Amino acid sequence: MSSIGENGADFLVVANRLPVDLERLEDGTQRWKHSPGGLVSALEPFLRAHSGAWVGWPGIADADVEAFEEDGLQLHPVSLSATEVADYYEGFSNGTLWPLYHDVVAPPAFHRRWWNTYVRVNQRFADVTAKVAAQGATVWVQDYQLQLVPAMLRELRPDLRIGFFLHIPFPPVELFMQLPWRTEIIRGLLGADLVGFHRPGGAQNFLWLARRLVGLEPSRGAVGVRTRPGVVQVGDRTVRVGAFPISIDSAGLDALARDKEVQKQARKIRADLGNPKKIFLGVDRLDYTKGIDVRLRALYELLADGRVDPTEVTMVQLATPSRERVEHYKQMRSEIEQIVGRINGEFSTVGHPIVHYLHQSVDRRELTAFMSAADVMVVTPVRDGMNLVCKEYVATRYDLGGALVLSEFAGAAAELTSAFLVNPHDLDGVKNALEAALTLDPAEGRRRMRALRRQVLTHDVDRWARSFLDALGTQTAV
Ligand code: ADP
Ligand code: G6P
Repeated sequence: MSSIGENGADFLVVANRLPVDLERLEDGTQRWKHSPGGLVSALEPFLRAHSGAWVGWPGIADADVEAFEEDGLQLHPVSLSATEVADYYEGFSNGTLWPLYHDVVAPPAFHRRWWNTYVRVNQRFADVTAKVAAQGATVWVQDYQLQLVPAMLRELRPDLRIGFFLHIPFPPVELFMQLPWRTEIIRGLLGADLVGFHRPGGAQNFLWLARRLVGLEPSRGAVGVRTRPGVVQVGDRTVRVGAFPISIDSAGLDALARDKEVQKQARKIRADLGNPKKIFLGVDRLDYTKGIDVRLRALYELLADGRVDPTEVTMVQLATPSRERVEHYKQMRSEIEQIVGRINGEFSTVGHPIVHYLHQSVDRRELTAFMSAADVMVVTPVRDGMNLVCKEYVATRYDLGGALVLSEFAGAAAELTSAFLVNPHDLDGVKNALEAALTLDPAEGRRRMRALRRQVLTHDVDRWARSFLDALGTQTAV
């Protein structure tokens, strides 16, 4: 799609993180590793397939890295100082916006210093992007860390076509209104030609705020998925606002799951776990929004009630370390570790722990093997923009085996209606769903999985990206 020559890139993604993270090893050397999170999982395969350019932070403070090419992808690093990492990334992005946008499940902190640094860092991202974008290029800005970039970039480069997509929920207006810098954020987003959310509700909230905070007159019709977007007139520009539910590389994962070696690895995982009758699996970044504690509490009670036999069941919880210096994350980690300890302390026998908890991330092949081995995938966030893990599980189950327990509070619940849907705040409901999934009649299981797969395989990340870029008016570029 894009050629990157002396004249700059024709198609750029701008995200807080590059798709690879720089890691400093103890011996003083450095290496690049895959970045965590759903944004990178979703966008990386698309960008690689279209040889785009990516502007982002290399993941550690004070990394002085020149632009470089990796596997056909142009990477343009944006450097952050240690103070900026603390105030912009850990502070305003993950101590203010993340909890505010996730229904204040943890209290957001409002600090003027954090905000000032957020403004400064957003300006730096805009400056770097303005330098590397070709005349008339398409720039796709991603996520809550960079909400001011669209307006800043438009100021510098009015020739660009600018899209913005929010990967996390956009909150109810009553919650958004708590933010002291609410008007600045809405104005920042309105710099884009197209503002995209996962769900129509987010788009609707944004339109309401454009009227209330900026005094604009948005269109009145309801915004739907793949229907006509909402529209706001900003001076002589038209800003479109729509819902675009993100997805995964479904066919790629389906193929990987069918790989003989991956299947062999899945059997080995099962054997290593002692061939339990049933395996529960959880896969998340260790984040307080993911409800890892919820599923562990439900399992504890099921064991304590005698509804689940400890000799028959094992749970594997893979939890990628995340934002480890932010207080709420530290608290959630110790809470999870306490419940794991309690379950194993009370119900395990020598050689058969009930919960296998790995505070680690695993590679894509191993993750696929875990998913292939799992009888019940448990996804119980208290709020999640979309959640890709549940879609990944469905994509790996070409055998129509397995069952999915999914929170109603994940964006994916609107699409994956044949899952066992649960309210994560209702512990009895979660327990009932876990038990129902454990004892699921195989024919009913296949029926549910077939319906889930129909959705996930036909609505993949390529379709998501294309529908966004089509609405942005860049059909000719891709
Ligand atoms: P988020 O973006 O909030 O982290 P998502 O569910 O949308 O949540 O995306 C998470 C991505 O990270 C998925 O692609 C998932 O497979 C991957 N992932 C999460 N935990 C692990 C882990 N422990 N090991 C490997 N990959 C993981
Ligand atoms: C979510 C966010 C992404 C973020 C990812 C990983 O998916 O929407 O923007 O990159 O989590 O979090 P991190 O803070 O490690 O980048």
